Order: sequence, then C-alpha cells, then structure tokens
Amino acid sequence: MSDEIKADEITADKPTVAAKVASTAVSPARSAAKLLRPSRRAVLTGLGAAATLPLFGRFNIVRAQGAPLKVGLMLPYSGTFAQLGENITSAFELLIAQKGGTLGGRALEIIKLDDESNPAKGPENMKRLVDRDMVDVVVGTVHSGVLMGMLQVARESGTLLIIPNAGAGAATGAQCAPNIFRSSFSNWQPAYGCGRIAADAGYKKLAYVTWDYAAGKESAAGFEEGAKEKGAEVVQVLTVPFPETNFQPILAQLPGLGVDAVGAFYAGGGAVQFIKDYAAAGLKDKLPLIASGFATDGTLGALGSVADGLVTGLHYADGLDTPTDNAFRAAFKEKAGREADVYAVQGYDAGQLLAAGLEAVQGDFDETDALHKAIAGAKLDSPRGPMTLSPSHNPVHNIYRRVVKNGMNVVDGVAVEALADPGVGCSMT
Ligand code: BEZ
Repeated sequence: MSDEIKADEITADKPTVAAKVASTAVSPARSAAKLLRPSRRAVLTGLGAAATLPLFGRFNIVRAQGAPLKVGLMLPYSGTFAQLGENITSAFELLIAQKGGTLGGRALEIIKLDDESNPAKGPENMKRLVDRDMVDVVVGTVHSGVLMGMLQVARESGTLLIIPNAGAGAATGAQCAPNIFRSSFSNWQPAYGCGRIAADAGYKKLAYVTWDYAAGKESAAGFEEGAKEKGAEVVQVLTVPFPETNFQPILAQLPGLGVDAVGAFYAGGGAVQFIKDYAAAGLKDKLPLIASGFATDGTLGALGSVADGLVTGLHYADGLDTPTDNAFRAAFKEKAGREADVYAVQGYDAGQLLAAGLEAVQGDFDETDALHKAIAGAKLDSPRGPMTLSPSHNPVHNIYRRVVKNGMNVVDGVAVEALADPGVGCSMT
C-alpha cells in the first residue's frame, strides 16, 4: 500500500511527535504503535517543530494523514458460531464497499482474527490486535464470554471497540466506557421481549433452557423479568455447558415440570441440534417453545420444516418490507450468495456506526471526543428499523414477534417498541 507510513520514515526525524505520544499513551506497545502511525493531532503538535525539520521530514508527516485506518475483526470463523462471524464480516465489508471503500475519506485495512468463541483466549487475542497488529478499531465479537475478556483491554488501551453481536450486559453496564459501543443488543433485550410474548400468549408457568454461560444466564434473567411483568413465572432454568449439544438430559426433565411453555436461548449450530432434538423428543406439539430469535436466524436452511410454526422474539425479522431492509437484503445476497440474517444486520450497523463517527471528524481518528460523540449520537436507518444508542451505548430498537413460515422468520408484530437496556451499573447513564 503506497500510502502506508513506514517505521523508519517517522522515528528518525520526529522527536517532538515521539515525545508527545509517549507521554499520553497507556501501554508501551501502544506507544510504539502511535509512533509508527502518528495521529493528525500529534502531527499538528509536531508542526511547531516542523519548521526546523528537513523538508523530507515534513513530507513524510503529511503523508501519514492518509494512512489507512486499521480495523481488527475479532470474530469466530470456526466452531458453532462460525456462520455468525462470516455474516457479520460480509455485511461489514458490504457497508464499506457501498461507501466507496473509504469512511470519512479514510481507507480501511482489515485484519481478521478467528477467536474460536474461546473465552480463555479472549484477552490474549484482543491484545494481539491492539499491541501487535496496532489496530485503531476492533469490531468484535459474537460470544459473551470472549467479549468479557476483551473489555478490560479496550478500557485500558482506549481502543475503539464496536461489538457486532455479543450481548454481555457488562459491556454497556458496569464496564461501559466512552470508547465501547454495541451495534447488536444486550442479552437482556430479546429475552425480555420473549418473556412478554410468552405471558401475552396466556402461558403462566414457564421453564427456560439454555447454555451455561453469560449469554444464557442473562437471557434467562431477561425472560423471567419480561414474563413476571405480565403475570407469568419461570419455575425452572435448565442448562448444559457451552457449546455442548447433548440436550437429552434437559429434554427428559421438561415434561415433568408441569409448565405450559418453554423459553430458550441457543444460536448457530447448537440451536439447529436443539430444535431438532426438541421435536424428536415429541415436545414441539406438547410444550410451545418461545426462543430468542437467534435460534431460528441463519439456521432455517439447516432446520427445514421442523422449525415451522416456532414463535421467537428478536430485534430483526424477515418481511419487514421497508425500502432500507429490502435494499440491504438484495445487496447482501448479491455479495454473500446467501440470505441476510440478524448477524448480517449487526455487522452492517457496526459499519454504519464507524462511518457516522469517521464522517463527523472527516477521517481524523484522533479527534477522539468528537468521534465518540458522533457515534453515540448516531441515528441509524438500520435494516432492523430505526436505531439509536442509549446513554450506555447500547442499541434502542424494536423487539419483533416472529413466526417461522415457509423457511422465513416472518414478522408478526412488535412485542416491545424502542426497547432500551437499563444499563445497570454504567457510569455514563
Ligand atoms: C452471546 O454469546 O452473547 C451470543 C451468542 C450468539 C448469539 C447471541 C448472543
């Protein structure tokens, strides 16, 4: 890339820039990164001294302003959530292509990292992107447990983090920060909507089934809250470890609980297995299932007719039939060769948030406060419908009631309009 700045072009003749950056950076590696890719603010600071610099030195500084912005995509490209990571990536790339390959005049360089949905490697993978690859922005990830390990690195380094799926409440709750944004949902939101859908349908006694990890636990709590507000109660929560797909132990217990219906949180390949096993156990016609829509988004091809009639709740649906959604779906299908789903929408909106920020500062990534303010205040015309961010930087959006018909998650009304996560514990609310 001819525009990219090289280490030896910068360090040799810019002591003023180097000193300024080193005094403000938060980690030695990040300091080094900034030395190699000086910010426009640092460049301007350095210009006072530039008068004394040789001409070739000033030339090099000016070139640095056009350096591509480095974006790290930290997502699962293997394992049970691989397809989710692929759809987020394709849609993020689609948004950039639609913007002509630049955001706010800055070209982007994308670095992809497969996080394998492995929480144990979360902090190390995030550090690798921030300290070794020296990215400016991280877009990631899908799995709540992995996200938990990324948050501390994002907070300490100040790296802009846009979360395109993982719903862990802490990211926009107790661990919220000015540089952390979400384009997806909090785990509480769709599950809360599902609890209301179940109670509105007249079910009084409910069970909940899920994986035993952050997203599952938070979904169970959201479901219970939504159901309780409408007069229903959750009598039992049953779990299997993530990403286990032997659901027989919990399926065997459900008929004996005396419940009217079952709430659920599963996604990706695990959801396909769960829904098939639920039907095979003869439960589909006995105990209505009301799952967070992740169970049937991106999985209907693999599920086939076994999913027909399932009711779910989510912040996206098929058949919204808005000009924005129709255009998005057509463009996504043309690019990726498959139908759009909620993950694609969230990846696209991660791109829209980044675009809103960079366009507001005309690509000057070091106008940090203005950049953050523009992202926080973005009013997106999302394929999901209108979307804004709450004070804790979490999407405010509709939760739709959906029914599976003819291989689609057909919208069947709005369960909760413009639902905001309460952002409990966030110091910015
Ligand atoms: C999560 O871990 O937060 C998550 C994973 C897949 C779908 C939805 C949420």
